[in-house]
Amino acid sequence: MSAADGGNRQAATSMPRVLFVDDEPAMLESLRRSVRREFAADIATNADHGLDYLRSGGPYCIVVSDMRMPGMDGAEFLATVRTISPDSVRVMLTGCDEMEVAVRAVNDGRIFKFLSKPVPREDLLACLRSCLAHYLEQREEKQVMASTIHALEQLDIATLTAFARAIDANSPWTGGHSERVTALALRIAHTMGLHAKDLQIVHRGGLLHDIGKIGTPPAILNKPGRLEVWENEIMQNHVNVGIRILEPIDCFQDMLCVVAQHHEHFDGSGYPAGLAGEQISLHARIVAVADAYDALTSDRPYRKGVREEKAIEILKGNSGTQFDPKVVEALLAVASKSRSLQIMGG
Ligand SMILES: [Fe+2]
Ligand SMILES: [Fe+2]
Repeated sequence: MSAADGGNRQAATSMPRVLFVDDEPAMLESLRRSVRREFAADIATNADHGLDYLRSGGPYCIVVSDMRMPGMDGAEFLATVRTISPDSVRVMLTGCDEMEVAVRAVNDGRIFKFLSKPVPREDLLACLRSCLAHYLEQREEKQVMASTIHALEQLDIATLTAFARAIDANSPWTGGHSERVTALALRIAHTMGLHAKDLQIVHRGGLLHDIGKIGTPPAILNKPGRLEVWENEIMQNHVNVGIRILEPIDCFQDMLCVVAQHHEHFDGSGYPAGLAGEQISLHARIVAVADAYDALTSDRPYRKGVREEKAIEILKGNSGTQFDPKVVEALLAVASKSRSLQIMGG
C-alpha cells in the first residue's frame, strides 16, 4: 500500500463500507468527504491498491472506480472486483467522453451503476443508497437461500433416517442396523479424507443400503438357523429389490451404487454382479466394511454377536479378499482413535 494511501483506512464502524478508486487524490478526498456521514470510505489511488484493500481490508458493500486510470483501467479493475468480492456492488465513474465504455460495462454485467464526473454530492449519495439497498437485498436473498438449502438437507436426512428405521423394523434382530452402519461408515470416510459430496453419498447410501429388505419375508430374515440355498437367494435378492425401489427417483441416483454394490467383494467373489477392486464404488466399499462390522458384532437368531476385537480381527483377515485394504486400514485408524466403534445402541 503506498504512502499516499497509508492511514486512510476507516476505523471500525457500523456504517456501510465503500471503496473509492481514482488516480486523482483531490477527487478521492472530495468523494470521501461527501459521503462521510453515511458511509465509511477507504480510498485508493490506483487499481492495484484497490485490489490490496479488497483482499486485506474487505468486505466492502460498494466499490466505486474511475474509468480512466494509469495501468489497469476501471473496466478491468471492476471485472476483477467481481471475482475477488462478488457481493460488492460495483459503480463506475466516467467522464462525458467515455459514455460508450460505461454503457458496455453495464450491459456486460460488470457494474451496477455509473456516475459521470463531476458528481454532485446528492447524486453520489442517491447512487450509493441505491447500491446499498441492492447489496442488502442480495445478502438477504443469499441468507434465505442458504437456510432453505440447509432445511432441505435436514429434511432429506431426517426422511432417510425414518426410512432406515422402517427397513430395520422388519426384523427384531436388525434394529438400528442401518443407522449404526451409517455412523461407522461416515467415521471411516472422514478418516479417509473424503470430500463433502462423497460424505453425503456415504451418509444417504448408508441409511438406505438395505432398503430392499423391505421385500424380504420376515420368516427368512428372522430364521433361527442357517438359510437354505433358496432362502439365501431370496435374502441376497434384497440388493436387486433395493435398486428397483430407488431407480425411479432421480435425486437418489448418486447413492444407488451403495445399494447395488454393498455386498460385492474386493476380489470379485461377491454379489450380485461379481465386481472387483475399483469397479466397486469407494462409497460401497466403505459401507461394506461398516456393514460387516455391525453384522459381526450384533446378535443373530442363531448366534451371539462377537466382541469388537474379534470383529476387527475377522475384518483384517478378509482385507484384500472381501474388503478393500485401504478401507480396513481406515477402520483400524478409527478404532485406535476411539474407545469403541459401537457408538449407538440397537
Ligand atoms: Fe445388505
Ligand atoms: Fe446391511
